[in-house]
Amino acid sequence: MPKQSEVITVAKPHTIKKFELIEKYIETWAEKLMNNLNCNGIIFIDCMCNSGIYQDVNGEIIEGTPIRVAKKLLTVAEKYPNKRVSLYFNDINDARVDELEKHLPQEEKNFKIITSRKDASELLKTIGPQLSQNTHEHYFLLYDPYDACIDWKALFPFFRNWGEVMINHAIRDPMRAIKCAKTETAKAKYEQTYLQEFEKLLPYGSDRNSYEKRISEIIDYLKGNRNYYVASFPFYNSKGSFLYDLIHCTSSIEGFKLYKRSAWQTFGGQSSSKNNKNYTQIKFDLSSSTDAPIFEEENCYQIYHIAQYLQTTFAGQKNVPLQDLWNVLDHHPIFPSDGFKDVIKGELKNCFGATVQMIVDEKTKHRKQTISFKAK
Ligand SMILES: C[S@@+](CC[C@H](N)C(=O)[O-])C[C@H]1O[C@@H](n2cnc3c(N)ncnc32)[C@H](O)[C@@H]1O
Repeated sequence: MPKQSEVITVAKPHTIKKFELIEKYIETWAEKLMNNLNCNGIIFIDCMCNSGIYQDVNGEIIEGTPIRVAKKLLTVAEKYPNKRVSLYFNDINDARVDELEKHLPQEEKNFKIITSRKDASELLKTIGPQLSQNTHEHYFLLYDPYDACIDWKALFPFFRNWGEVMINHAIRDPMRAIKCAKTETAKAKYEQTYLQEFEKLLPYGSDRNSYEKRISEIIDYLKGNRNYYVASFPFYNSKGSFLYDLIHCTSSIEGFKLYKRSAWQTFGGQSSSKNNKNYTQIKFDLSSSTDAPIFEEENCYQIYHIAQYLQTTFAGQKNVPLQDLWNVLDHHPIFPSDGFKDVIKGELKNCFGATVQMIVDEKTKHRKQTISFKAK
């Protein structure tokens, strides 16, 4: 963790991947929304924004999320002059926000940047109650702490209104430090993040799955009883050690699909930043209603695994419309279909002996592509 006194810190390769992923996602998310007649504008909030400027490991200057997003959203604001774009950038460290302000683009009539230097919870408790469905503005909240420190009370309104929440769940923190937490402050931090008494958290120890499961339960509770989609992608350092999950929460299936696509594209056609040559085979718990994969240690999914999952799901079926495959993937917690359809089809043919054919639909008389799967 960089020192609080530092203004320009080093961005390791996994951090740069995080910037790229958020930038890629926000650019397309904003375009999609602005094209929607029911959307009057967008609000982007980075409540722990840092200075916007980093150095990479070679000393080159690298832009962080706030500057990247501000530049992309300025272009979007120029293209849609009748819609509003508002950006909130906040950090508890004054000097970091001072630095950020030097690099932000100029405001325009429909493009506003509001900077502040508060505790993130304080900021969210001010913005949260102002959120309203009536303004037809969509927000995106980035909650990006260094350590496992999440204030769910402050986040709550953001789970109940239009928009999306992205949380950096810094699991490496409790995995390494929970056993050493002795002070009341340290214990209270974990209790607040996992909404659980410290004594009940202690047995989680260094078990990543326990922390992930607990966060997933909390989000499930916060969303209420509406349809909600949560996708989570792990980040690793260059030595292959797991660091954190970047979790995206939305009530929009389109946002969910787009996040999965953006993540796989950012990671070069796989599901994490892991430099992954000897990946382990993944098992799926097909008895579970969610089809959630069983995480086997620190694994990373490839296109091959998507094809393997489809083969298992459709084994032996003939002339399955391709759309049926994409529908299954659209609801999968990790696997994308958009952006990868041709490569998935190729993998099914080459690795699993599936055959693709054109048939004429009896009802519509249109030609459509179908796929036939080998038996198990
Ligand atoms: C991981 S960095 C954020 C990176 C930034 N979101 C980006 O993508 O470029 C974490 C930042 O959170 C700030 N921070 C830590 N605790 C905070 C709090 N309680 N409220 C606001 N900012 C906080 C730190 O000063 C640091 O700049």
